Amino acid sequence: MKFFNREKEMEYILHILNREPDDIYFIYGPINSGKTALINEIINNGLNKDKYVVFYFDLREIFISKYDDFIEVLFEEYEYGKKPTEVIKSLIKDIPSLYGIPIPKNTLEEILKKKTTKNVFRYITSVLIDIKKEGKQPIIIIDELQKIGDMKINGFLIYELFNYFVSLTKHKHLCHVLCLSSDSLFIERVYNEAMLYGRCKYILVDDFDKETALKFMDFLSKEILNKKLPNNEKELIYSYVGGKPKDIKYVIEESTFKDLREVLDFMLNDEISKLDMFLEVLDYLKPKIEIGNKVIEIKKEDVIKALKLFKESYEVNKKEIPVPVYIYLVKRNILFLNPQKRILKPQSFLVWNAIKKLLNGH
Ligand SMILES: Nc1ncnc2c1ncn2[C@@H]1O[C@H](COP(=O)(O)OP(=O)(O)O)[C@@H](O)[C@H]1O
Ligand SMILES: [Mg+2]
Repeated sequence: MKFFNREKEMEYILHILNREPDDIYFIYGPINSGKTALINEIINNGLNKDKYVVFYFDLREIFISKYDDFIEVLFEEYEYGKKPTEVIKSLIKDIPSLYGIPIPKNTLEEILKKKTTKNVFRYITSVLIDIKKEGKQPIIIIDELQKIGDMKINGFLIYELFNYFVSLTKHKHLCHVLCLSSDSLFIERVYNEAMLYGRCKYILVDDFDKETALKFMDFLSKEILNKKLPNNEKELIYSYVGGKPKDIKYVIEESTFKDLREVLDFMLNDEISKLDMFLEVLDYLKPKIEIGNKVIEIKKEDVIKALKLFKESYEVNKKEIPVPVYIYLVKRNILFLNPQKRILKPQSFLVWNAIKKLLNGH
């Protein structure tokens, strides 16, 4: 699958990577907006392979239930015998992106025994320095970082990790650090974290705007259908799925052998059913949200009241919805929160259309 557009975001990220590391970057946006696709495009086709060594960790694909699981994701073991420096030299010669930090087998075992992050970070730093000595700039990228958001090891692992990332960027200017996440509550937590004030920056990778979405349809219909879609069909697709790359792609792929309207109605009905079920069980589930040491029950009528705000507009100021209610709706992937702009919006146009259809009588 060829990559489409995102020139602006790509240029900006390449520009950041060209400077000396100074901040941790958080790349965030709604689910399936194309964050992972963008970062992979940058790794594979954007970066000058002679200049950079990328360590890319995708936590989404990995089951992480304990500290050891996370540590194992970070490293790629090799048999004892060679010196780490030699391994690094041979590795970085022609492989621009690596899926683990090279470590001798026995060293990893030692590190895992200790159950503290100190030795882990010390080892990683030594590898990064070796890479710098070879004249290359290391980059660490962690995709879906929120997966370790609640993990504990002498306090929260995430704080130790943030501290370490601050030392790599702001203090030592040794390594670029990019963290990706679709979890907007996690991003909000990070955004409000005093320890990170002035030490990190945020890049929003959102669903496409209308103009770009229509161009994406042209791009895909040429690639997949080998024909041009008429304007009315593109407008119809946009009215159902908006600018979400994954949904647009799905529609075009499905319409190779199905009627376009059928595909779109099927998708919308699916979304309506999900939302309907979600609302139906609220009275029975009596979900609770914990804020500080308070436990708050989420009431169905408050959820409906909140969702009704979206009947007229796609974006709503977060002040208009009580905190526990929006936390619950974001947790359930119905809403997306942009902590920088302080707005809430449906996770997708499909969800938005489902809200409008379902709450019409309310
Ligand atoms: N710029 C793009 N060009 C082509 N396809 C894209 C693009 N952005 C996203 N996609 C498609 O949308 C899907 C979801 O994107 P992904 O990067 O996984 O979203 P995210 O990481 O934001 O949840 C991808 O599998 C890819 O098929
Ligand atoms: Mg992703």
